[in-house]
Amino acid sequence: AQRKQIDEVLALFRLTREQLVGVQGRMRAELEYGLKKKTQALATVKMLPTYVYGMPDGTEKGKFLALDLGGTNFRVPPGGEYRREFCLFDHIVQCIADFLDYMGLKRSAAAFGFTFSFPCRQMSIDKGTLIGWTKGFKATDCEGEDVVDMLREAIKRRNEFDLDIVAVVNDTVGTMMTCGYEDPNCEIGLIAGTGSNMCYMEEMRNIELVDGDEGKMCINTEWGGFGDNGCIDDIRTQYDKEVDEGSLNPGKQRYEKMTSGMYLGEIVRQILIDLTKQGLLFRGQISERLRTRGIFETKFLSQIESDRLALLQVRRILQQLGLDSTCEDSIVVKEVCGAVSRRAAQLCGAGLAAIVEKRREDQGLEHLRITVGVDGTLYKLHPHFSRVLQETVKELAPQCDVTFMLSEDGSGKGAALITAVAKRFQQSRK
Ligand code: BG6
Ligand code: GLC
Repeated sequence: AQRKQIDEVLALFRLTREQLVGVQGRMRAELEYGLKKKTQALATVKMLPTYVYGMPDGTEKGKFLALDLGGTNFRVPPGGEYRREFCLFDHIVQCIADFLDYMGLKRSAAAFGFTFSFPCRQMSIDKGTLIGWTKGFKATDCEGEDVVDMLREAIKRRNEFDLDIVAVVNDTVGTMMTCGYEDPNCEIGLIAGTGSNMCYMEEMRNIELVDGDEGKMCINTEWGGFGDNGCIDDIRTQYDKEVDEGSLNPGKQRYEKMTSGMYLGEIVRQILIDLTKQGLLFRGQISERLRTRGIFETKFLSQIESDRLALLQVRRILQQLGLDSTCEDSIVVKEVCGAVSRRAAQLCGAGLAAIVEKRREDQGLEHLRITVGVDGTLYKLHPHFSRVLQETVKELAPQCDVTFMLSEDGSGKGAALITAVAKRFQQSRK
């Protein structure tokens, strides 16, 4: 009987091909809504113009600085909420100052690209208004403000050095640019990390919000918000809803909360709590540890699901997490992790299939070859995520030949490249 109850829970995470095709179709519809003036306000996929028109051509030279905020590696101190007055941006400027000191660059007023991995409405390459925080970040009174202005003001307050801030760039865009430097077919940037997002090169004629019909511009889709109108509620489980309700931004970023590293562990934790309540795990005892938010980081999920790991080692990891488990418990935990991460990879694949198919149709091609630049700890560390993602894209977009290219520290480098291109453009207009 116990097995049956566990299987019933796991089955909620198994998606049929039809369900995935449904997700692909709805993503496609949202992408189109987001591009059109009439429907833009209603679209949950924001489709933000980035004012990045093209790829670097290899002639970019010079010294450019880049700072990367928003991934795992530049974390706001836990529980840290910043106020605008002494804000996050003062903290960032402090970090820049330390770095410039270290490099002996404080007097150089270097050209600077800012990778800022949150949704921003841009009016040009060096202006971006923060629409809202995601991924558990919070700093009061920043929303609706220009992030470049806030950075400039903080630099002024400090009054120690100058920076020529040339570009503000989303991490997806930086990633695409870096990979595009090596492979001209790279027209998509994907992040599967703490958050989940995708950007791609769109025909100018399809972007109603920006004047001009010639050439292409990169669009930051902010697809993490897909489903915020309830359009994927049919596949959301009670566990997804619990994770959403316990988050800093309830109701928002529903797709992200089913597909990215920051939330997968939370879904797992909610399932484990429920199974324990039903007396199917941990001898029915919900420990304080299990009640603690955020204990299952991406790296633990990745370890638990590693094929090379014996059950005893899974048990040891659980013990490290403060969860006292039997061998049977360990089997169940591993299965739960597997079901949650597999669904995440499939959902992400369905989203990607929507975009490559759109690109293929827009260009009137029978067959499309395209490269996706990818970054993010979930993609890089998880033992199965990347494979399942790729299989799903192949299955749902059979007329597209999609190559995945890993980017190494991509968005920093990409921001520097974009800065270089923007700088050249600025100078050519002088
Ligand atoms: C890093 C990029 O490698 O990956 C960041 O430089 C990006 O810009 C990050 O945000 C995404 O992955 P994660 O897992 O750190 O969120
Ligand atoms: C979140 C952010 C988005 C970013 C993504 C990956 O979805 O809103 O801007 O690209 O995380 O870091």
